[in-house]
Amino acid sequence: MPHDTSAHTGRYPDADGYYGDFGGNHWPAPLGPALEELATTYEQLRSSPDFRHELDTVRRGLQGRPTPVHHLENLSDQVGGAQIYVKREDLNHTGAHKINHCVGFALLARKMGKRTLIAETGAGQHGVALASAAARFGLDCEVHIGAIDFDKVNANVSLMRLLGARVVPVASGQSTLKEASDSALQAYTEQHAHALYAIGSAIGPHPFPMIVRDFQSVVGQEARAQFLAITGGALPDHVVACVAGGSNALGLYSGFLDDPEVTLHAAEPLGKGARLGQHAATLTFGTPGTLHGARSVVLQEHGAPAAVTSIASGLAYPGVGPEMAMLAQAGRLSLDTVSDDEAVATFLRVARTEGIIPALESSHALASAIRLAATRPPAERVLVNLSGRGDKDVGFVLARHDTLGQRDRVPPV
Ligand SMILES: Cc1ncc(COP(=O)(O)O)c(C=O)c1O
Repeated sequence: MPHDTSAHTGRYPDADGYYGDFGGNHWPAPLGPALEELATTYEQLRSSPDFRHELDTVRRGLQGRPTPVHHLENLSDQVGGAQIYVKREDLNHTGAHKINHCVGFALLARKMGKRTLIAETGAGQHGVALASAAARFGLDCEVHIGAIDFDKVNANVSLMRLLGARVVPVASGQSTLKEASDSALQAYTEQHAHALYAIGSAIGPHPFPMIVRDFQSVVGQEARAQFLAITGGALPDHVVACVAGGSNALGLYSGFLDDPEVTLHAAEPLGKGARLGQHAATLTFGTPGTLHGARSVVLQEHGAPAAVTSIASGLAYPGVGPEMAMLAQAGRLSLDTVSDDEAVATFLRVARTEGIIPALESSHALASAIRLAATRPPAERVLVNLSGRGDKDVGFVLARHDTLGQRDRVPPV
């Protein structure tokens, strides 16, 4: 049943870890005590001034926060509609928003006396961020990655190793993000006595979706204050983010969830088409189900998670976090899909027009924002989460471009 999400902040999850119909803890029993220990410790620490101070210090020094909000004037002029702004999460140390919750988990692990951080990664951004946070806090790090992604984002694999992480390639099923998550959750189940799972998105059993959202909310809090300062008191009319599990989306949305005049847009990967298996657009095409320990919306075939396709490894996931599922069900999100081809064209366009190379994941949000801006008047403002930088994708995009016989042609803008 749709839930009233007005005055959303602070209301969710409920005491059982639910966001309306979604969430909860549906992971097999052995993890129960470990998840309760995590929830209790987090509850004690989240409002502790010492914890906040340590987190703020590492965010400033290691990460480079605050990240700016930046007006894409050239692109806005070219599009000829609403003004496009970006929250520059690509400027974070290690190149994406993922480090916002990685440093939080590393700090939590140290307070809990755990010596190892475990996680999965798709695009490698979460893995590199976690490896860096683990090194900073003197912890071991174990990152699970699908064998296909291992090859595709090999530069990030090298960075993880350089930073001291043990990288575990996972060759099963589609050998991408879902299988990496299966493997990491299993490793946590076996090692929870001395390890903490630093999950890559706002997914998984309670309390993970809540903890990730809370650590990511720094993005929305900063963006709101920065936007008000830049515009002399106006909020954005539209806020846009790409979605896999929902960590960058919830991070940015958190600054605007209680402002009904701000429309929240979710850009999902349409991959190669709208048929099951060709895309990873879970909110658009999924149905209620359980994945990785939470009730949510899932792309499924015969009751099992379906195969997914996206050119952006970090978006190729057949599920979505429970809070995103609730917001979509409540009608608080405007859903959009972006194809592989459109994401690549946007990657090239933003590079040439603005001098910024966005991650292929973030290129989905930018493509959706450009389409939206073109239909809106110049007085309106669109704020996009530029969730990561595209260095990891450059070789892949250029090779694809060359293969298409366009080696020396300036890509269309
Ligand atoms: C740069 C970037 N943006 C977005 C995502 C999608 O994840 P989420 O939906 O949790 O933000 C990823 C995942 O790897 C990513 O690397």
